[in-house]
Amino acid sequence: MLKMKVLNSIKKMQSFSESLRLEGKKIAFVPTMGYFHEGHLSLMREARKLADTVIVSIYVNPTQFGPKEDFSKYPRDLDRDLEMAQNVGVDVIFYPTDSQMYPAGYQTYVDVEKVTRNLCGLSRPGHFRGVATVCTKLFNIVKPHVAVFGKKDFQQYVTIKRMVADLNLDLEIVGYPTVREHDGLAMSSRNKYLSPKERQSARVLFRSLQLAEQMFSRGERHASVIIQEIEKLIKKTPDTQIDYIKICDATSLQDVRQIKKKAVIALAVKIGATRLIDNHVFGEKLKI
Ligand code: PAJ
Repeated sequence: MLKMKVLNSIKKMQSFSESLRLEGKKIAFVPTMGYFHEGHLSLMREARKLADTVIVSIYVNPTQFGPKEDFSKYPRDLDRDLEMAQNVGVDVIFYPTDSQMYPAGYQTYVDVEKVTRNLCGLSRPGHFRGVATVCTKLFNIVKPHVAVFGKKDFQQYVTIKRMVADLNLDLEIVGYPTVREHDGLAMSSRNKYLSPKERQSARVLFRSLQLAEQMFSRGERHASVIIQEIEKLIKKTPDTQIDYIKICDATSLQDVRQIKKKAVIALAVKIGATRLIDNHVFGEKLKI
């Protein structure tokens, strides 16, 4: 039996959140595209600690997928998701339809400029415009005081923080560390596309981050030297194709040549047909 509230009407969600606010309740929000794994659940547990009411949205947002991307085959399992969310103490699931979110005549988008142009923005043009747009809409519907985002999608986290600051949105964005499998692979709904052999190759992403951190801790500060070593490591792993390996300033996401201020190494690698991303902020703990 579900005791959690499941709402799919935008109007009902807005008036429910408004009534919570009038009662003085603090709302924490976790936007997702569903098909939950331990990474999503950790964000929900964190949200549970931060507020009185936890609202989670499940919406596979069409505007953030490119024409050749996996929108229609993106994994979905609502019943399983509802049970998992209820078990971690979520209060409300918001589950809107495409026709409500993007009705006929829809034409308004949010474009966060510089931070979205590098990294995944190079190979997924329009992706972050879709993300920023849907998050703005969801924030206006759910009206949270705080929203929790995973740092696994570091560029998304930076983009949303930038947007919230630039547009004076009245909520706090909290980042949560990447949750990993036992061998370090970052949890992702897309990991299910990997064959057993590809799953072995996928370990190279975490191994690359470990190697980068090792080089950094031994004093290496030249971005190109670290990138070259990682490129070698990935190239000798079967079924891999590098999309990018970059070292960027952790706030502006512009490439750096020398690591001076807080910097992030970000990778996107295709393993077979599946594109995986991962990242690490130098000097921070890299834990499984
Ligand atoms: P989705 O990929 O479902 O991810 C939802 C949230 O879970 C994001 O904040 C993401 O960074 C976080 N997450 C995913 N894997 C994680 C992991 N291994 N460790 C920690 N956090 C993890 O990201 C999206 O959906 C969408 O772009 C969305 C923000 C919902 C907008 O449509």
